[in-house]
Amino acid sequence: MDARARIAQEIAAAGGWIPFSRYMQLALHEPGVGYYAGGAQKFGRGGDFVTAPELGSLFGRTLARELAAFDRVLELGAGSGALAEVLTRALDREYLVLETSAELRERQAKRLGSRIRHLERLPAGFRGAIIANEVVDAIPVEAVHWTAGGIGQRGVDAGLRWADRPAEGELLQEAERIPLPRPYVSEIGLEARAWMRTLSQSLEAGAIFVIDYGFPRREYYHPQRAEGTLMCHYRHQAHADPFARPGEEDITAHVDFSALAGAARAAGAEVLGYATQAQFLVNCGITEVLAETNAENALRYAPIAAQAQKLLSPAEMGELFKVLAVGRGLTAPLPGFSRGERSHSL
Ligand SMILES: C[S@@+](CC[C@H](N)C(=O)[O-])C[C@H]1O[C@@H](n2cnc3c(N)ncnc32)[C@H](O)[C@@H]1O
Repeated sequence: MDARARIAQEIAAAGGWIPFSRYMQLALHEPGVGYYAGGAQKFGRGGDFVTAPELGSLFGRTLARELAAFDRVLELGAGSGALAEVLTRALDREYLVLETSAELRERQAKRLGSRIRHLERLPAGFRGAIIANEVVDAIPVEAVHWTAGGIGQRGVDAGLRWADRPAEGELLQEAERIPLPRPYVSEIGLEARAWMRTLSQSLEAGAIFVIDYGFPRREYYHPQRAEGTLMCHYRHQAHADPFARPGEEDITAHVDFSALAGAARAAGAEVLGYATQAQFLVNCGITEVLAETNAENALRYAPIAAQAQKLLSPAEMGELFKVLAVGRGLTAPLPGFSRGERSHSL
């Protein structure tokens, strides 16, 4: 059975409709058939998209300077293992990985062997740094339709088409709190908030770094973003139709960083910093990492300068990607947030 058949089966069993969040869960993460659970290459030039660690070692070597203050690292959703590869080289620390996809767990183990240790579940009372790069954008979201007549929960019918039902419960409550022009469609990441709450609760001392594309709430639900933030990635093409190739392509939503910060605070953690990726990497000392490569050797310097351009440029990942750190029990401030514009507040 493939993802399409699995989804059709579930829609039929549910009487002809499932919420979009359930569709996204099946299309991305369902064991055996979901995009992340299956064997597609996904990452890098031959895959569907390129993440910061897939560009080369510059991102990881820079991040290592921030993580050096912690005794152990737990990476969530390690993908191809590219970031773990760089960080385990740069830092002599215990390196744990929690990965939901069995196929990717296997790939990571093959690439990294005993340099990492896979966990089956979140440890209670974790002390150290937790990192999640481009993980939250893949956590299923609720799709919501604000209309003059009321608020609808967007779902999927048997023909794999959008179909609304009246929103209820927590989703309705959350949707009502957001002042928006109507009609308007967007996403609410209820599951991501629960994920952040659980993660924050499991942290006894240390910090959680969430790195992803997204906005604070006032920009996320901007009157001009009336089509929402869903985006699919297939062979380096981005498009907005989540029903085009279930199981064969990535489906993502931008991250509402204010909601994640709120969830962490509700779990008793504090917000340690929030910055654009460019500002964070500059604060961590990306220019010093660059300087480790001799600029007179163009052959070696050009590729690393190209990585810097991609990571920092406002037209690429520099502005759209943000870094949020939350945590507890730290005695010193995190260097990654030492300088920065206050306008990037949550
Ligand atoms: C877009 S990939 C990013 C991979 C890697 N972090 C990188 O930057 O290249 C998303 C990763 O998160 C994993 N994942 C998705 N949801 C997860 C969750 N709730 N907990 C842990 N891993 C998750 C996926 O299987 C995949 O490895």
